[in-house]
Amino acid sequence: IERTLSIIKPDATNRNLTGKINAKFEEAGLRIVAQKRIHLTKAQAGKFYEVHAERPFYDELCEFMASAPVVVQVLEGESAIAKNREVMGATNPADAAAGTVRAEFAQSVGENSVHGSDAPETAAQEIAYFFAGLELVG
Ligand code: GTP
Ligand code: MG
Repeated sequence: IERTLSIIKPDATNRNLTGKINAKFEEAGLRIVAQKRIHLTKAQAGKFYEVHAERPFYDELCEFMASAPVVVQVLEGESAIAKNREVMGATNPADAAAGTVRAEFAQSVGENSVHGSDAPETAAQEIAYFFAGLELVG
């Protein structure tokens, strides 16, 4: 059993899509074992997306992530990292498969409704960035 970090991004919380998005995760067999709504500062968003610091869209990405509340959550299940990314769809909604979160809800490559960890090491780091061990209730 695996765990992954999921974030429902500001474009989605602004449009009241949290429930619709989480229904897709739950239907795919992923279980929400921790969850909270927070409003990141730009600095906190910057630290989370530090790996992208050299990319041209970094500043825009950090501004966006701090522009409204997000829902951070831990999803648990068999192959949760890959399964979450499958349900999310491609980064750019124009490339996302039909039925995925990004195909249905994302507004652009930047404002793409959800984040999901991309590997076991980053999942562990990202979960620890937002949650203490006792907050994960399987
Ligand atoms: P995450 O789950 O959010 O990490 O998405 P990803 O793994 O599909 O994409 P990646 O890690 O490559 O990029 C991280 C985030 O940066 C994306 O989800 C987008 O929100 C944003 N991003 C990526 N490419 C672009 C871009 O070309 N322009 C803008 N404005 N944002 C981008
Ligand atoms: Mg990524």
